[in-house]
Amino acid sequence: MNIIAAVDRNWAIGKGGRLLVSIPADKQLFREETAGKTVIMGRKTLQSLPGGQPLHKRTNIVLSRNPGFSVKGTVVCRSVEEALAQVKDVPSRDVFVMGGAEIYREFLPYCDTAHITYIDYVYHADTFLHNLDRDPEWQMDLESDELTYFNLCYTFRRYVRRQK
Ligand SMILES: NC(=O)c1ccc[n+]([C@@H]2O[C@H](COP(=O)([O-])OP(=O)(O)OC[C@H]3O[C@@H](n4cnc5c(N)ncnc54)[C@H](OP(=O)(O)O)[C@@H]3O)[C@@H](O)[C@H]2O)c1
Repeated sequence: MNIIAAVDRNWAIGKGGRLLVSIPADKQLFREETAGKTVIMGRKTLQSLPGGQPLHKRTNIVLSRNPGFSVKGTVVCRSVEEALAQVKDVPSRDVFVMGGAEIYREFLPYCDTAHITYIDYVYHADTFLHNLDRDPEWQMDLESDELTYFNLCYTFRRYVRRQK
């Protein structure tokens, strides 16, 4: 399975329930990579999307422990195991774990590829992704040329889990 995230220099991903920054080319790449695929997200991330609505043209799996929680157009799972069972017949390359921090943490052991938009800036943040640069089990195998959005510099990176 894949992780897909935008991180800053400290691998921060959010603050106050929101993204740190919205870069149009990043949103575009996210749309292209996940179109027609299955995305897995936490209830808080779903609620941070426009109108709290699921993403079009994707199977949206949302995790919540609240038995009363349901949103049209989503498949709500009450545990990691339930979500894994839900995707068991989907090719794992077509499953994208799209956050937030709690969901990244719980699904990282099941992921072998990470699509990271790396923003060369330090934001004030309260939510972080595990730093794959510091994890010997992971290595970066692709990085785009440096891109800019106003005064921000960023790259698109791919990390893969090292073979044991
Ligand atoms: N930079 C990026 O790429 C990126 C991407 C996505 C999100 N974000 C940011 O990340 C932040 C949100 O992250 P977060 O960690 O606060 O929230 P989250 O991971 O989106 O959602 C957490 C919620 O998911 C549910 N959940 C988690 N584990 C579960 C389990 N094992 N079984 C059942 N339900 C489970 C719970 O919902 P209930 O409380 O309903 O039980 C929990 O409160 C926001 O700032 C957002 O903007 C950043």
